[in-house]
Amino acid sequence: MEKQLTANALRKKFIDFFVSKEHSQISGASLIPENDPTVLFTTAGMHPLVPYILGAEHPSGNKLCDYQKCIRTGDIDAVGDPHHLTFFEMLGNWSLGSYFKKEAIDFSYEFLTKELNIDPEKLSVTVFAGDDLVPRDEVAAAEWKKHGIPDERIYFLPKEDNWWGPAGETGPCGPDSEMFIDTGREKCSENCRPGCSCGKYFEIWNDVFMGYKKLEDGSYVEMDRKCVDTGMGIERTIAILQGKKNVYETEVFTPIIEGIEELSQVKYGQSEETDMSIRILADHIRTSCFILGDQRGIAPSNVGQGYILRRLIRRAIRHGRKIGMQEASLSTLAKIVVSLYKDAYPELSDNSEFIYKELEQEEDKFSKTLQKGEKEFLKMIPNILKGKAKQIPGRMAFKLYDTYGFPIELTKELAQENGLSVDEEGFKIAFEKHQNQSRSGAEQNFKGGLADHSEKTTALHTATHMLHQALRTVLGDHVGQKGSNITVDRLRFDFTHPEKLSDEELKKVEAIVNEEIEKNQEVICETMTLEEAKAQGAIAFFDSKYGEQVKVYSIGNFSKEVCGGPHVSNTSEMGRFKIQKEQSSSAGVRRIKAILVK
Ligand code: ALA
Repeated sequence: MEKQLTANALRKKFIDFFVSKEHSQISGASLIPENDPTVLFTTAGMHPLVPYILGAEHPSGNKLCDYQKCIRTGDIDAVGDPHHLTFFEMLGNWSLGSYFKKEAIDFSYEFLTKELNIDPEKLSVTVFAGDDLVPRDEVAAAEWKKHGIPDERIYFLPKEDNWWGPAGETGPCGPDSEMFIDTGREKCSENCRPGCSCGKYFEIWNDVFMGYKKLEDGSYVEMDRKCVDTGMGIERTIAILQGKKNVYETEVFTPIIEGIEELSQVKYGQSEETDMSIRILADHIRTSCFILGDQRGIAPSNVGQGYILRRLIRRAIRHGRKIGMQEASLSTLAKIVVSLYKDAYPELSDNSEFIYKELEQEEDKFSKTLQKGEKEFLKMIPNILKGKAKQIPGRMAFKLYDTYGFPIELTKELAQENGLSVDEEGFKIAFEKHQNQSRSGAEQNFKGGLADHSEKTTALHTATHMLHQALRTVLGDHVGQKGSNITVDRLRFDFTHPEKLSDEELKKVEAIVNEEIEKNQEVICETMTLEEAKAQGAIAFFDSKYGEQVKVYSIGNFSKEVCGGPHVSNTSEMGRFKIQKEQSSSAGVRRIKAILVK
């Protein structure tokens, strides 16, 4: 095995391998999904590719590879043990209606055994056992056999193990084939097999045969055009190849942990309790840097991604304090993260000042509220201990959240440390009541299907481009998109601008968009390199690999923007544009909500 393989080397090896197999390398996407209101973060390499897996033509062709920043927030509470991460990088290769099972497995086998030099004897694989809808995957099994994997190391497993997707509630999915390395440990029981959590089998890669689409009613339909989607987690893979016990011992974490040791004067490896705090801190600061430093980076707030970011930063601060770290430590650690990743993700150095500034501000804000909140919390304890339930009532948990900025998770941790539980249901009720009264909540983002490309959202997407251009016309070219979120009912557009828009400005913007809609303009999509697009004056707020093909959508002579689509084909399909609200989103960023009325 490649004992010295670093994350940087693995990224390069993977991309070089697939480029040599005629795949185009594409840039990984932002961590903040564009125009997909159903998820907060990009969760897998396939996520930004959903429209293409569903049939849209990709400007870079039908064989692709990349490395993608991912965040899975479902795991936040599990972070602290040595195996869960909130942020990770995923390597992937895709066939969009080009090759299928045979080639996918050939590539995987060759890469694992020839490039990573993994002993074929140590490989086990799993394939789909079949159900009412989809037959047992004899094809994939036969391909593995051709490469010499014997029957006893090919496991046929049910849907719980060998089916991937959709990433949200609807969308592309299919049976998969997972590859495992046998670590050589004893089986934990007679039933121990790949997928068992005891640690004997280590999952290294997943090939998904995307042949189905899950619909809103829960049924599956077969897709005419079959795709392949694969995913290999970088951190986990280098850990196993380097023979490390876990990801925190690899070079992507050791400099951060050394930074924490220096700031806290606590050594990693001394006690399980302090180790846990160190791991939480290391994971959360890394994730926070990637959210803040993203090409669509956002600041901490009380909704959506900003709320997750706030939770991560605040949990990091609390664990930092637990091990004796002083204030303003996070930006010191952030500098380590930026220097670790600046080559693979140049956006981190581009946005480094924003990262440090926001971390310092949040740390400052939080330490003030935390002190007050902890006092309040301790005051509550004697009374609660007298009660039978030994439980913190929901409304108190909500007060800690609302007044002192305590995320519920923090209250739960504090409660646990004091032998108490929290009435989470009660907290939820109080929280929802509050949400209904004021702003819309983060969890609304989880409703609906993934990448809803209905007529309504498509028209709103085109309206977003027109709004963007109209804002630039009225306010100036400093206006840049900071975020976009579209539901079937409305668009929401965040953009850079230092002050509140006047009524007059808003009217002008609205009038320009409507004038342009009324011209019944054709919306044209062209494919070109990003450099060509920029030279033609197209708006593009991200970088890409030099020479990479991108799609450019033009609306008459009015708007030209680099974008994945989809859009209406003519503005006559849109209706009347109406701005409903203009408000602040975060410092220097304004937010507009608008609708289309037929
Ligand atoms: N999309 C697949 C995964 O995330 C490859 O595992």
